Amino acid sequence: MTDQYAVIGNPVAHSRSPFIHARFAEQTGEALEYGRLEANNDNFDATVQAFLADGGCGLNVTVPFKQEAWHLADVRTARADHAAAVNTLIRLADGRLEGDNTDGVGLLRDLTVNHDLVLRGKRILVLGAGGAVRGILLPLVEQLPLELVIANRTVSKAEGLLPLCHGVTRHALSFQDLAAERPFDLIINGTSAGLSGEMPTLPDGLLADGGAVQEMAYGAERSAFQRWAVEQGATTVIDGLGMLVEQAAESFFLWRGVRPQTAPVIAALRADLA
Ligand code: ATR
Repeated sequence: MTDQYAVIGNPVAHSRSPFIHARFAEQTGEALEYGRLEANNDNFDATVQAFLADGGCGLNVTVPFKQEAWHLADVRTARADHAAAVNTLIRLADGRLEGDNTDGVGLLRDLTVNHDLVLRGKRILVLGAGGAVRGILLPLVEQLPLELVIANRTVSKAEGLLPLCHGVTRHALSFQDLAAERPFDLIINGTSAGLSGEMPTLPDGLLADGGAVQEMAYGAERSAFQRWAVEQGATTVIDGLGMLVEQAAESFFLWRGVRPQTAPVIAALRADLA
């Protein structure tokens, strides 16, 4: 039987992962099939186990099961432990289930390779303090920014993430506090507000001249945050599509040992979205 992979989540019908992995498989000549699995809170573990018992080789895990997947894994990588979330499950040769997290490295590749951004010595602002933000902090810290600031509607949640940023100057703020901040070189929007067309009110001048922004969500249209960034003179305005393809490429590499080219898949997905 062809090697089986899937994305598991809820909802999962609109996941782009099958599109992405089908293109990776085509491009690399890897023989695999990649589908979708919908689970609910009561049957996540059983759905994963049934998939593996049927010979499944690996899974991507999406909302809302990344923490459940972290609990389910028999062994976990350091980056999965840091994020306390797993987006990639790998069936090891000895039958154990390994949990990894490729979200952070996906973001980093998109920023630093696809968009040539240098983060070392820069001031970075992250908006939001939920699961999506938690997963990107370690790779950001590893780039040695001058300062990492996390702003969130609920400040205590941003404060709770500061221990994960050990090693760099960091602090947590409310959105109101941002008016007193010096400009940032990079602002990442990791709130889920982008998806609903809303955004926190941000002060003018928050983005440095020549600054860059990244919206972790993606869609056919620019988000309110991205439009704000254009008005503020941002030179680089990125959405989450590149990150999505890059995290998928890292998962594909973990499963197959082959690293696919991401640029043609990002372009294909962008065209499909349009
Ligand atoms: P995810 O896994 O996508 O990060 P989450 O853990 O529910 O989802 O986190 C959602 C994030 O978006 C949180 O930082 C949330 O702020 P709170 O911690 O104060 O709830 C933020 N968020 C959601 N809607 C928002 C809005 N309308 N304005 C500002 N922040 C919002």
